[in-house]
Amino acid sequence: MQQTYIRDLAAQAGQEVELRGWIYNFRSSGKLKFILLRDGTGIVQCVLSKKEVSDEIWQASEDLAQETSVVLRGKVNADDRAPGGFELWTSDLRVVGRAVDYPITPKEHGDAFLLDHRHLWIRSKRQHAILRVRHTLVQAIRDFFDGRGYTLIDAPIFTPAASEGTTTLFETDYFGEKAYLSQSGQLYMEPAAAAFGKVYCFGPTFRAEKSKTRKHLTEFWMVEPEVAFMELPELMELAEDFIVHLVTRALERNRADLEILERDLAKLEAVQKPFPRLHYNDAANTLKAKGVDFQYGNDFGAPDEEALVADYDRPIIVHRFPAAIKAFYMKPDPEDPSLSLSMDVLAPEGYGEIVGGSQREDDLEVLERKIREHNLPMSAFDWYVDVRRYGTFPHAGFGLGLERTVSWITGVRHVRETIPFPRLMHRLKP
Ligand code: 4AD
Ligand code: MG
Repeated sequence: MQQTYIRDLAAQAGQEVELRGWIYNFRSSGKLKFILLRDGTGIVQCVLSKKEVSDEIWQASEDLAQETSVVLRGKVNADDRAPGGFELWTSDLRVVGRAVDYPITPKEHGDAFLLDHRHLWIRSKRQHAILRVRHTLVQAIRDFFDGRGYTLIDAPIFTPAASEGTTTLFETDYFGEKAYLSQSGQLYMEPAAAAFGKVYCFGPTFRAEKSKTRKHLTEFWMVEPEVAFMELPELMELAEDFIVHLVTRALERNRADLEILERDLAKLEAVQKPFPRLHYNDAANTLKAKGVDFQYGNDFGAPDEEALVADYDRPIIVHRFPAAIKAFYMKPDPEDPSLSLSMDVLAPEGYGEIVGGSQREDDLEVLERKIREHNLPMSAFDWYVDVRRYGTFPHAGFGLGLERTVSWITGVRHVRETIPFPRLMHRLKP
């Protein structure tokens, strides 16, 4: 008999099927046994009746511990009372692998314990739902850019230089030379934009973040579009369209998962264009008016972000941050050169910055001066400035952090649950 997946049971009502999976939960009431079986695509209730199976099978089902792997056969029965609307009237049961004392039980466990058992924790309903949303978003990210004529250009992970500041670099030995794990693919997307026009990269990036917040990982995934001849206003529109696309896709494909996570769907449905745009100066004034302890010229901390988004039901775009707190490659605002042509998208409900981007400095001399002013080694950037030497052009791009976006869309407070195997300052295992 061919294997059927739980997700596909609706099409098999009334038929005999074979399911292969693991025992999620088990209860017995005398002559009936109820197995909750999971197979990675869903969970279904399987009913065993003493009078309908052989003694041997009844015996085999006597001590089914949580996470034992089994193969079951039976008839699919539509029943509104069953979780998912179907159950299996089991006629055959075979144990494949016993599980003894599975460490994660339905009772509450502490964070450290769960993270130590992350390789098992991902079997549980809530973690499963989060990672399914992540999968949807990864696909939606690719579809968005592929559908708009962008070319995927993979950026390297070993790099010779810092792009996002030298304080969060992971250094490694590269055959006797210093190399760094990539903090961002951006510097490679700029030459790629000169070659292909519209490009993006999407992969893991690394930052030696010493901050233990709910928004920081040391290894996270970032998608980074870069577009030739694009300037700041169009970049903000691109980010807005992109984010609406991601939320819409999650609502279309993962409603059941979002319900498991008890996400307030009305809050996601409100994510429509246009997103409010706030000049940095206005944002600073807003914070002052709200009595938040914020110093003009600084970047926003979590309390500032929370105060700024509190008035809105959708993401907001803050633009023109002070040049002094931003990366060397950002173009100054011609109207006030102390500011940069930068923008951050802040997610609603306090999930924080999900996008950072800017228009890039496109003048060779200015860029070389900025590299020197930031005390960065020119020898590591000679190839990068070539983009300005050979046919320079205005261009802009941004990076969206996947885990923070998953965190916001799923309503999961800490980014450590939004990546299969999180890397944090004090966690390299499993
Ligand atoms: O604002 P960031 O540092 O921007 C850049 O790296 C640019 N080079 C991107 C570009 O213009 N191509 O990072 C972009 C996003 C942040 O908004 C955040 O969502 C995410 O990356 N991010 C992190 N996510 C999890 N853990 C961390 N430690 C993160 N640091 C940044
Ligand atoms: Mg940023």
